[in-house]
Amino acid sequence: MEKLYDRADICDLIESEERFGCIKKDWTLFLGERSIKTVLDVSIGSGGMTIPLLDMGMDVTGSDLSEAMLERCKKKVKARGKDIQLKCTDFRDLSCFGDDKFDMVVSTGNSLGYVSNADVLKTLEEMDKHVKDGGYICFDSRNWEKIQKETERFYFYNPFHHGENRVNLMQVWDHNQDGSITFNLLYSFEKDEKIFQREIFEEHYNPFKLEPVTKHLEKLGYKDITIKQFPCYAPETEFEKMDWYRLIAKK
Ligand SMILES: C[S@@+](CC[C@H](N)C(=O)[O-])C[C@H]1O[C@@H](n2cnc3c(N)ncnc32)[C@H](O)[C@@H]1O
Repeated sequence: MEKLYDRADICDLIESEERFGCIKKDWTLFLGERSIKTVLDVSIGSGGMTIPLLDMGMDVTGSDLSEAMLERCKKKVKARGKDIQLKCTDFRDLSCFGDDKFDMVVSTGNSLGYVSNADVLKTLEEMDKHVKDGGYICFDSRNWEKIQKETERFYFYNPFHHGENRVNLMQVWDHNQDGSITFNLLYSFEKDEKIFQREIFEEHYNPFKLEPVTKHLEKLGYKDITIKQFPCYAPETEFEKMDWYRLIAKK
């Protein structure tokens, strides 16, 4: 089966200027008065969550495991008349950034769950090495605790349009015996009310709990750990009810 992140074109089908606008609004509200000029996103992908930060005037650097996603990110940034430094690396080893430090180091797009629970903590340590004193560490994640408690299985997206075609995306989540979750991503492409193309991808996640993460961040010297629903302009709710959250903490 083809890998989702080799198909950056498919990943980006969901994107639109309207979506970028919503993400920008969300970042603006979420970051508030925090002074952030330089950002490193260690799972930047094709930039869906991070290009809006460039649009907000920040200096953005990115890395990702997928060359295809990075290539697409570069093209999208160039098309906006901007530039970005990108590196291909696993976020469990960020040594390619040497001694570089940033105002905020972030992992966007529910990406930490791709690695084992122990490696999530290791990744936070790697990210921490590149956070300036007084800077921020940040990530967003699906609320795995809610997903596991409710053993949710189906996740539907509103249909979106790509040229003349209508695209439907649905996710079916398999809860595996070892505690991992396989996301089956089912895309169907319709024209003249007929499905003419189907694309199926499998993504494997390792659900992690929030508490060990916040404890680890405290051990690393982080304070003001703030968790908000993602996107944060949605009506406020308690953690147990959040589908997706974003955490930020100050070094
Ligand atoms: C859902 S995409 C999110 C992309 C982008 N941040 C966004 O929100 O649009 C997840 C990304 O995580 C990357 N990824 C998965 N495991 C990784 C790892 N161990 N190190 C670095 N990147 C990884 C994938 O290549 C993919 O680009």
